[in-house]
Amino acid sequence: MNRIQPLHGTRRLEPRGVAADAPRTRIQPPTHAFALVAEEMRRTEETLDEVLSGTIGPVEGAARYLASAGGKRVRPLLTALGARAVGLGGDLSRLMVVGELIHLGSLLHDDVVDDAATRRGNDAAQHVYGNALVILTGDFCLAQGVLMASEHGGHACVSGLAAAVKAMAEGEVLQLQRAGDLDTTMEEYLEVIDRKSAALIAWCASVGANALGDEPLAARMERFGRTVGVAFQITDDILDYGTGDFTGKTPGTDLKERKLTLPLLYAMESNPSLKTRLQAHAPTDEEIPGLLAEVRATGALERSAAYASDLVDQGIAELSVLPDSPHKQALADLARYLAERVA
Ligand code: IPE
Ligand code: IPE
Ligand code: MG
Ligand code: MG
Repeated sequence: MNRIQPLHGTRRLEPRGVAADAPRTRIQPPTHAFALVAEEMRRTEETLDEVLSGTIGPVEGAARYLASAGGKRVRPLLTALGARAVGLGGDLSRLMVVGELIHLGSLLHDDVVDDAATRRGNDAAQHVYGNALVILTGDFCLAQGVLMASEHGGHACVSGLAAAVKAMAEGEVLQLQRAGDLDTTMEEYLEVIDRKSAALIAWCASVGANALGDEPLAARMERFGRTVGVAFQITDDILDYGTGDFTGKTPGTDLKERKLTLPLLYAMESNPSLKTRLQAHAPTDEEIPGLLAEVRATGALERSAAYASDLVDQGIAELSVLPDSPHKQALADLARYLAERVA
């Protein structure tokens, strides 16, 4: 098979900016939730492998570099549990892979945009393959995801996915535009994360209900996914302050870009001098560890976590119309995990 060689060889690269003795345990989504759909998850991995084998060598190489490095596979899991909880039967794996493909595309693009050092424990793909191949491989993943949605879902499923991909691009642009603007409001922050992260999570949660053609139920599942998706991104933003286990990403990436996330917003409220200093100039690499500690000392991370936890409660309330089942319970447990995870 024609596999491209990474620019810098094939060695596994150790994460930068992560202490060598940092715990490398990956906290997986609740195991009982995973176990309920283990067979579908296994088939989803096979499908992903099949899809990547079917493209040209360079694209396959760059996509596999990211896809095989791990990841929690939250989006396929959510797709499966959401579909089973609303009573959709049959093989779901080809729909489940859609969320992961879109996610992979968005990560490839996001790491170029954010100038990220590491992803899933390795050097971010653009440091290995270069920007051009990584951006185009991201395009491939997005298009492949939409294509598979069109082959295996109905019209509502495809149009909803295209709307999510559009929202993700808009969210990333809005965030870029606002980087360094420390007067960004809570509403503006929520608008960004609703688009860049929650839109896809909402699609995953509701695709099963959409496939059944049950619009009111799909609207509920969509609200569940959106609310939980916002909580998920708040947790991601908390983890950028370096409190988690091994996330495979480099803490301080958001702060370095002066991205106004909820933890920073709350920290600046408690410690206004932080805002004055960040307004004066973007932090240097040397300043980052001290600033992360200052933000942590304000209690802003706990406050952000409480906000995320409230959102999850609201999200779970949307599930009340579903008949009780192990899948419904697992969906609620997964939602809670998404806001309380430490990796
Ligand atoms: C990271 O997503 C990007 C966000 C939208 C926060 P995940 O935390 O799901 O990343 P992986 O798939 O586990 O690497
Ligand atoms: C997630 O935003 C954006 C995506 C949709 C990929 P972040 O920039 O916070 O994600 P990480 O922290 O790099 O995973
Ligand atoms: Mg990023
Ligand atoms: Mg982040």
